[in-house]
Amino acid sequence: MIHARGLSRTFRKKRGKQASEVKAVAGVDLDVEAGEIVGFLGPNGAGKTTTMRMLTTLLTPTAGTATVAGCDLLTDPVGVRRRIGYVSQAGSTAPENRAGEELVSHARLYGVSTAEATERGKRLFTELDLEGLWERQPKAMSGGQRRRLDIAMGLVHVPGLVFLDEPTTGLDPQARPALL
Ligand SMILES: Nc1ncnc2c1ncn2[C@@H]1O[C@H](COP(=O)(O)OP(=O)(O)OP(=O)(O)O)[C@@H](O)[C@H]1O
Ligand SMILES: [Mg+2]
Repeated sequence: MIHARGLSRTFRKKRGKQASEVKAVAGVDLDVEAGEIVGFLGPNGAGKTTTMRMLTTLLTPTAGTATVAGCDLLTDPVGVRRRIGYVSQAGSTAPENRAGEELVSHARLYGVSTAEATERGKRLFTELDLEGLWERQPKAMSGGQRRRLDIAMGLVHVPGLVFLDEPTTGLDPQARPALL
């Protein structure tokens, strides 16, 4: 499912005459097979999010290679995107859109029919304890409810591979184990 070799990312910034360099990720080798659940553990700033942003094609590696869900990260990023779901640490819903619409239009982008997307979305709303919030705008939801909607967005198109970046942050204690 994921095979990465030497995946690295260095951020370089030139501010005035001062150049700065952050080696966020240096040489990650990773092999994940279908059916496996893998977690990154590391302190704040360790490079977990940066690694995930590279594996989800949002950030170009400065070195290294990877195949994700059978597609080459560098030569076939669209293929990777088609096959994955991603719940980003920062969240991903537009504040003004209705929650249900957001979910359905996301699934539509992956070729799911409106009827099927609506059915899946409603099921996810039930499973994630979001019932009654289909018409609500994310900006009018609580932090934990918004996080649950982020999780639904990562799952609604039924991807074969899901990346979850701290999905339980902001969820109440009883909801955390339920995510498994
Ligand atoms: N766009 C950027 N420009 C410069 N430095 C960056 C950028 N993005 C991340 N970094 C730096 O890269 C390092 C890794 O950050 P990253 O967000 O990957 O850590 P993390 O392991 O996800 O941390 P956390 O547990 O806090 O979410 C940090 O030192 C961070 O400051
Ligand atoms: Mg992070």
